[in-house]
Amino acid sequence: MKPVCLVIGAGAGIGGTVGAKFAAEGYHAVLCRRSDEEGLQKLVGAIEGAGGEATGFLMNATEDNAIEERVAQVEAEIGPIDTAIYNLGAQIGNRSLAETPPGTFELGWQLGCFGLYRLARCLFPKMVERGKGTLLVTSSTAAMRGNAGQHSHAASFGGRRMLCQSLNAEFAPQGIHVAHIIVDGSVDAPDTLGKLLGPERFQQLRDTQGAKDGLLLPEKIAETYYHLAQQHRSVWTHELDVRAHTDIPWFNSSAIARSVASEI
Ligand SMILES: NC(=O)c1ccc[n+]([C@@H]2O[C@H](COP(=O)([O-])OP(=O)(O)OC[C@H]3O[C@@H](n4cnc5c(N)ncnc54)[C@H](OP(=O)(O)O)[C@@H]3O)[C@@H](O)[C@H]2O)c1
Repeated sequence: MKPVCLVIGAGAGIGGTVGAKFAAEGYHAVLCRRSDEEGLQKLVGAIEGAGGEATGFLMNATEDNAIEERVAQVEAEIGPIDTAIYNLGAQIGNRSLAETPPGTFELGWQLGCFGLYRLARCLFPKMVERGKGTLLVTSSTAAMRGNAGQHSHAASFGGRRMLCQSLNAEFAPQGIHVAHIIVDGSVDAPDTLGKLLGPERFQQLRDTQGAKDGLLLPEKIAETYYHLAQQHRSVWTHELDVRAHTDIPWFNSSAIARSVASEI
């Protein structure tokens, strides 16, 4: 039986591409996404067409028990989950505080933080019993600093980062590897950034930034994820950041730092 890689939030960007990488390396990829049945079948079909194993589920991860029921079903019907990828984003574009009503803020928290707690709470007891498991958590610049218009996103992702650290403290000694991966820049992700920007602006971004490798490529991110999942426990990475060579890091990205950097 192949080890299972469960992806919560699998579009054509990071989630689906990481699933495809794990499938190519001998895992059974279980891809879960909210609404796009055609997109889901395309991802599953591409993995199977390449000789890999994959199963796709449509699910809204914020619904009561959706994550818990999916984990139970996958464990019972497909096999033990060796690696889980928590890839749900909570970016809703820049919104002032006045444009961030309670429901919007709370949804960000559900996607950014609470869903991760729910996944760990139902999956980790099984991994502890097996003495091993990996949870790779996609994150973003918003986990590292707040910003105007990012109230919901930054608050929920700050929580995501701290939850990863807390989970690591409790579960690393029990054999579970949790890695928080800060994706510090725009990704060539048609199902998320592409939809947020609209086709015209997304194509412009690909033609400008993408043409000089200024967009993070999901295929390259997937190589990092696979490497993380294979690390020996004497050298586990708990946090890392990835960004394009054209960008400057989140901790150096104020307007002053940008202008200084451009003069060097
Ligand atoms: N894209 C970027 O520029 C960027 C930059 C920095 C960090 N990140 C991080 O990267 C991760 C996302 O990766 P990606 O942007 O490449 O996206 P992706 O893997 O291409 O797609 C993510 C998928 O998540 C699914 N999803 C959203 N809400 C869901 C829900 N409630 N339940 C189940 N599935 C849900 C969507 O499915 P449907 O399409 O079917 O609705 C979407 O296709 C996030 O953690 C984000 O913070 C992205």
